[in-house]
Amino acid sequence: MTDGTTNFINGEWVAAVGGAVFASTNPANTSQTLGLYARSDQRDVALAVAAAKAAYPAWRKTPAPARGALLTKIGRLLEERKEAFSQAMVNEMGKVLVEARGDVQEAIDMAHYMAAFGRLPSGSVVPSERPDIYCSARRVPVGVVGLITPWNFPIAVPTWKMFPALLAGNTVVWKPAEDTPGMAVLLIQLLADAGVPTGIVNLVTGYGEEAGAALVEAEGVSTISFTGSTSVGKHIAGRCGQLMKRVSCELGGKNAIVVLDDADIELAVKGCLWSAFGTAGQRCTAASRLIVDKRIKAHFAERLVAETLKLRMAPGADPTAQIGPVVNRTQLERIHSYIAIGQNEGATLLTGGTPLTDAPLDKGCFYAPTIFDSMTPGMRIAQEEIFGPVTGIITVDGLDEAIAIANGTDYGLSLSLYTANLRRGMRALDELESGIVYINLPTSGAEIQLPFGGVKNTGNGHREAGWMAMDWCTEWKAAYINYAEGSELVRAQIDV
Ligand code: UN1
Repeated sequence: MTDGTTNFINGEWVAAVGGAVFASTNPANTSQTLGLYARSDQRDVALAVAAAKAAYPAWRKTPAPARGALLTKIGRLLEERKEAFSQAMVNEMGKVLVEARGDVQEAIDMAHYMAAFGRLPSGSVVPSERPDIYCSARRVPVGVVGLITPWNFPIAVPTWKMFPALLAGNTVVWKPAEDTPGMAVLLIQLLADAGVPTGIVNLVTGYGEEAGAALVEAEGVSTISFTGSTSVGKHIAGRCGQLMKRVSCELGGKNAIVVLDDADIELAVKGCLWSAFGTAGQRCTAASRLIVDKRIKAHFAERLVAETLKLRMAPGADPTAQIGPVVNRTQLERIHSYIAIGQNEGATLLTGGTPLTDAPLDKGCFYAPTIFDSMTPGMRIAQEEIFGPVTGIITVDGLDEAIAIANGTDYGLSLSLYTANLRRGMRALDELESGIVYINLPTSGAEIQLPFGGVKNTGNGHREAGWMAMDWCTEWKAAYINYAEGSELVRAQIDV
């Protein structure tokens, strides 16, 4: 069990300066404490930033292929430790084992994908309007980046941020979510074992209001990358605006799946089950709105409920588990509060709507997969991110209404449409307002080589993953080099 010396600063495992600790518990059995972790504050963040700053000049000058080679090594070590990481994730975060393996796999894929970038073009050479002038633009690192990451993908999301940042030549201070500090410690230990030089990646565990806020404010941190709620993201982006820091925010979602009357209903039901209840609904890509054509709604709802009732809820470590607990009791209560909110607004429950209290599930934070019917677009349950295994059906008449309702939220991460008609599918692709559109696929299932992120209140215009991940963690530097003979000054725009 960890003893609180869980900050990793300048290559050393240390306790918080103030000596405070916090506990991490198992959401499948909340009486089980998994470890004690450093409860960091501004003083710890300052030390971590100083270490990252000191390490930056040498890392920036390390050739990109060498930085990539280190990521390859990290990827291989992740492969070796995938099972251990996955088991630990099940215990700390609660997701079922197959999903935990997928979470780690995203990190492995990102390590190898980004490693290759060390040898790929990172800029362009363009013509000059003047003779004998060489013009180029290249990416350069931004310096020290601060990462603030969520608990729902405790390995995937941090590595989506960290690996591109490292490959680009930045150094890192990382504040992981307070629900999953143990996963952060495992990842940092792995980086150290892979030979990441001292000070390049630093870890400060603790709470958002303390360590996270200090990281945003810290002098010397040029860029913040944050994944979490829209309200916190707006606050962080506001502070970064004041401080003239770069900031990349990956925030909430209210994703929808549209099921048209010509859809393959069995395929759509499987997609809805996965999107609504996978990871107990705790994905930013989870589908909490099912927008269903009135002609097939009764059949669709019957099939969805029948399949939902077959889902097996159990601690994630149980190999037969299909849905594990939600992350903590506060989240459980918050999720449950939405049931009354929905019912008071006139929605009806088709199934679920209760925490599960039969042994052994009573020891943990288990919530029954829940489906509302008669949800209408303006209801709070149709507008607010619940982040739990709760979805609802909105009945519509045809494609136009479906698209309008799918677009009718403040969010825009992942929207999906099921149809057998290519023309309808292509129209949806054109008109759905989200960073990710799926046709005949669930709203979850993003692959690391495509940009991940959303529009409207889901983000602030940045993307993670794909080669576009380079955008938030690099600056562009333009170069003009004169190799003309003679002493004549040729001025741009003026002498042509
Ligand atoms: C998240 O929920 O923060 O597409 C990320 C998906 C996963 C990533 C989700 N590959 O659901």
